[in-house]
Parts: sequence; C-alpha cells; structure tokens
Amino acid sequence: MSFLAVLQASQLVTLAGPKRPRVGAELSEIGIIRDGGMLIRDGKIDMIGPSDEIEKELGGAEIVDAGGRVVLPGFVDAHTHLVFAGNRLDDFERRARGETYAQIAKAGGGIWSTVEKTRAASDVDLFAQAKKHTEWFLRCGTTTAEAKSGYGLTTEHELKILRIMRRLNKETPLEIVPTFLGAHAVSREMRADEYVDLVTNEMLPRVAQEKLAEFCDVFCEGGYFEIEQSRRILSVAKKLGLKLRGHVDQLSNCGGARLMAELGATTADHLEKTDELGIVAGSVYALGSTSYPRAREMIETGLAVVLATDFNPGSSPTPSMSMILSLACTQLKMSPAEAITAATINAAYSLNRGNKIGSLERGKLANFSVFDCEDYREPAYWFGIPSMHSVYVRGRRVLLRADEN
Ligand code: NIG
Ligand code: FE
Repeated sequence: MSFLAVLQASQLVTLAGPKRPRVGAELSEIGIIRDGGMLIRDGKIDMIGPSDEIEKELGGAEIVDAGGRVVLPGFVDAHTHLVFAGNRLDDFERRARGETYAQIAKAGGGIWSTVEKTRAASDVDLFAQAKKHTEWFLRCGTTTAEAKSGYGLTTEHELKILRIMRRLNKETPLEIVPTFLGAHAVSREMRADEYVDLVTNEMLPRVAQEKLAEFCDVFCEGGYFEIEQSRRILSVAKKLGLKLRGHVDQLSNCGGARLMAELGATTADHLEKTDELGIVAGSVYALGSTSYPRAREMIETGLAVVLATDFNPGSSPTPSMSMILSLACTQLKMSPAEAITAATINAAYSLNRGNKIGSLERGKLANFSVFDCEDYREPAYWFGIPSMHSVYVRGRRVLLRADEN
C-alpha cells in the first residue's frame, strides 16, 4: 500500500464544489486552501486540508514537501489529435507568408499530408512519436487527454491509430480518452458519399465491437462533412453506444452546433452535454486568426465552458495548457480562475470523468502538479516559461524538474 503526504503548498487549488460542471460565477470559485496539504493512499486522495492538520496524521507516510509552491489538479485536455506522424512545418511557413488553411490544404498540405505520413509510418515509429507527445503533455501538467483518430481514413489505419491509443494508455502515465474521428476528412480515394458509407458500415461497427473508442467526432464543415453526412455518421455512432463530440463551426458557421444539440437532446445524459462547450483557443492562435470564441458571453449565458489545446500538427501544435490559460486570459478575457476551472473540472465532466478527476477532493485520483510559483495566477501570467516543478499521476511522481534530480 502506498501512503503519501503532500505538505506546505502555498495554495492548494482544490476545485472542490458541486458534483457537476461549473457555470456562471461558479467558474471563479476554485477552492483554494492556503498552506495546504493532502494525504494520499493507494493513488487516491484520503484527506485534504491545511498542512498543519495533515501533519497530525502522518504516521509512516512518504513526505512530498511542496515547498511553498502552488498545487493544481492535473489538467484535463478534452480535445487533442495526439497520434500522427511527422509535422507540418511547410504549412506553418506558408501561413506566415499569408496563405490560408484552405489554400494550403489545396496545395498539398493540410490534413491529407499528415494522413499520407501517418499511413506510411510503421507501428513502431507511430507509437514512438505518439509516446513522445504523451511526454510533452505530462511535462505541461496534463494528466488526462482526450485523443482523436482521423489521420488514417481507411478502416485499417483508423483502427491502427486507436490501438496505439490503447497501448499508450497501458504503457504511459497519461490517461487517454479515445475518440473515433474517421470523419476528419474525405479520403482522396473516394467520393464523399462512398466514404460516409465506409465510416458508417465498416469503421464504426469495428470500433464499437473492439471497444476502441468512447466518443465519435465529425469534422462538420464545408469541404469536409456536410450537415446531413454528419447527422448520418453521428446517428449510427450513437446507436452503437458511442457518445458524441463535434468539430463544428470551426472555420464557418454551418449549423453544426445546432446538429449536436439536436442529436444530444435525445439521450437523457445528453441534456447537460448540450450545455457544455469546448473552446480550442490554440488553433485560433496558431492559424494566425483573431476571431476567438466569445467566452464571456458563453459564461454569462450559463454554459459550462471547457478549454482545450486542440493539439495537432496543422492548426495547433501545442500540448501546453498553460499557454491556453494565457490565451484564455489575454484574448478571451477569462479570469485565471475561470480558465483553470475550464481546463480541469469542466473538462473532466465533458469526458464523463467528473467523479474521478478534475479536482482535488477526498476519493478522487491523486493527479496533480506542483508549479514553481506562489500564486495560482502565475502559470497563465508568465507565458513561454516552463513553470512546472513536478507532476503526479495516481500519487506517483511521473515528472520532476531536471535540476531537482
Ligand atoms: O481541430 N478541424 C479539423 N481538425 C484539426 C486540424 C487538423 C489538421 O490540420 O491536421 C483541428 O483544427
Ligand atoms: Fe480538433
């Protein structure tokens, strides 16, 4: 049995609160314990409170001295495209010259160029690169990441990507929540309707049968999947027991959000889902756009806002949730507390894991990070500086700043 005591956190940011996604003013209530500590037994939080009270219960615990630093729950990144081969440096440079995402895709870059590289990669190489990505996430304090397939676009390659996620889940400390995104782009070898048939008749049944994904996603956008095609795919996925997420209204407003609400509203647990909204600020930044989502209005209308990186080689090459916190505060005008809530407990609920992760409360998994700062607002404020001291998953240290070794 493992027994750990964390002591002397300048601020232990618990995110304790109601057992549901946080809305409105609740996003600002992050439950700070000053000079805080925790007892952790077998990877779960057993007691949490002021350090001096924890110290009375130490009997035999291994001590982790937070040394007056900030402790936060592990970030939960609810939207990533974690498994792919290669990079898109050429797209990056073209964008700098003023070409748009759509122009670059037409000229041989874009999603399709990553599909070709991902198909050509051996299992060993694809796993090795994806494993490197999991290390980046952990280094940034993210302990759970949703991950989408979508760079295979054949049954064989989509399943290969999902199986790599299954292996990453077993062999790395990062918890991966797999999403099937076969409908990320239409395969160049097929007409759109043929490809939609392949997704619904062959890919989805295999994914469901082998239990390779929890969610199904569709890139619902002009030139990718139209509303009707998206509806077909998501309806089949839902019948097969998958839950739904959507890439909707990213480049244009084509009514995708309405479709998601329509499909969601027919399931009992989905009524609250339709009130959840994911913001993927990283892609707005990296695409050089300035049209950020209107987060303030969303918060004021009572949506449970979620922040995510959208980590992918094309539109958002960052695994850093601290970078997203910075964008949320400077561009979306969220407060640091609101941003942290959106990147932890709300994200956890959007992945159906709000009862296990996303906050530091008795009974939850001891997934947390120690930041090298004294105030919880600092990770969003000092941007571009690695501020991570150490990261723990289920009470086990998975990362320690190099100069502490
Ligand atoms: O979320 N929108 C579609 N997919 C990704 C981009 C994928 C890529 O460019 O490789 C996104 O932005
Ligand atoms: Fe995405």
